[in-house]
Amino acid sequence: MREKPTVLFVDDEPHVLIGLRRILATRCGHWDFRFLSDPRRALDLILGGEVDVVVTDIRMPEMDGFALLKAVRSNEATQDMPVTFLTGCLEDDVKRRALDQGATDLLNKPIVPEELVARIASMLRLRHYQDQLKGLNHTLEERVRSRTEELDRARLDIIWRLAKAGEYQDEETGGHVVRVGCYCRLLAEQIGMNRTFVEAIFLTSPLHDIGKIGVPDHILLKPDTLTPEEHKIMETHCRIGEKILVEEAQGMRPFLQWRDQTRSLGEMGSQHLFLAMAGDIARAHHERWDGSGYPFQLQGDQIPLAARIVYLADMFDALGSDRPYKQAYPHDKVMSIMHEEFQSDAFDPMVYTAFQAVSERMRQVREDIADEGRPHAGDDSSFM
Ligand SMILES: [Fe+2]
Ligand SMILES: [Fe+2]
Repeated sequence: MREKPTVLFVDDEPHVLIGLRRILATRCGHWDFRFLSDPRRALDLILGGEVDVVVTDIRMPEMDGFALLKAVRSNEATQDMPVTFLTGCLEDDVKRRALDQGATDLLNKPIVPEELVARIASMLRLRHYQDQLKGLNHTLEERVRSRTEELDRARLDIIWRLAKAGEYQDEETGGHVVRVGCYCRLLAEQIGMNRTFVEAIFLTSPLHDIGKIGVPDHILLKPDTLTPEEHKIMETHCRIGEKILVEEAQGMRPFLQWRDQTRSLGEMGSQHLFLAMAGDIARAHHERWDGSGYPFQLQGDQIPLAARIVYLADMFDALGSDRPYKQAYPHDKVMSIMHEEFQSDAFDPMVYTAFQAVSERMRQVREDIADEGRPHAGDDSSFM
């Protein structure tokens, strides 16, 4: 509401407006008044935000008071504006209809000046409270939004730190897990997955190798090619990761149940999806579409979609990154190796098609997110 509130009077009879003007001129220097005989012009003024409260006649040609009220109530910006009807015919059914349709108040003609001033004052008070309430609601929404953002940031922070912990021993190139998250988000969006899935894969794919913290150092850090036995041990990082992310989390159940009493089911549902996807990815991110991957030789649709996406994203990043045994391949070579892999049935065709559509953007991600650390000794592209 403006500092000097504006009251609009609408009446098709000029002598009524003249009478109102005379009554108010001597009484209310702290308010501004507008007087209009054309309700359509009045509506323009109201919708234009130029008035604070409205007093209107009911019976007017072309647009009556009810039509004016309806137009005001159906506009989001003016729907709460106090509107009082001023009329000479206050039969019961007119009164009822007026209140049903949202009139704030009703005033009889002939006008009693003191009553008119008191009603205007009460409309303006109402308007003032409405403005205060809107301000409070806005502040509250802002607080909720910033608190949610804070929680999201904290969650993201924990995930990145956990992912970093996973690659700390491994000393895999620094930006790898961050890039994998970004690639997966691009691929999932391109496939047409919903927002929840896209956000979940963005947040959980960086944890794909978390299980490497359970692989002995002499194997993880071995500078030479692994023996078949060592390879078998290395493969356990998939199951260890799944255990950490899913099974170990079961131990937290009593704590979660206690905490979740105050949380909505929707939130708990997304938490569940989140952990389930993280577990799927850890377990199956080395499975190939043709069933020749590991650790379970899953095939086709047996491999969770999120893991099929991570498998491709992880390989794309490894090929384009420096490793102890090779320099990063140029993008053209990366693309041709990816195509060969596709032809040998490594990838879900749907994921590969999405990859073809977003590969340029993935290449951009690789350029934007550089490696901070040095490539580690003993990695093997099959353990990307
Ligand atoms: Fe891995
Ligand atoms: Fe990886």
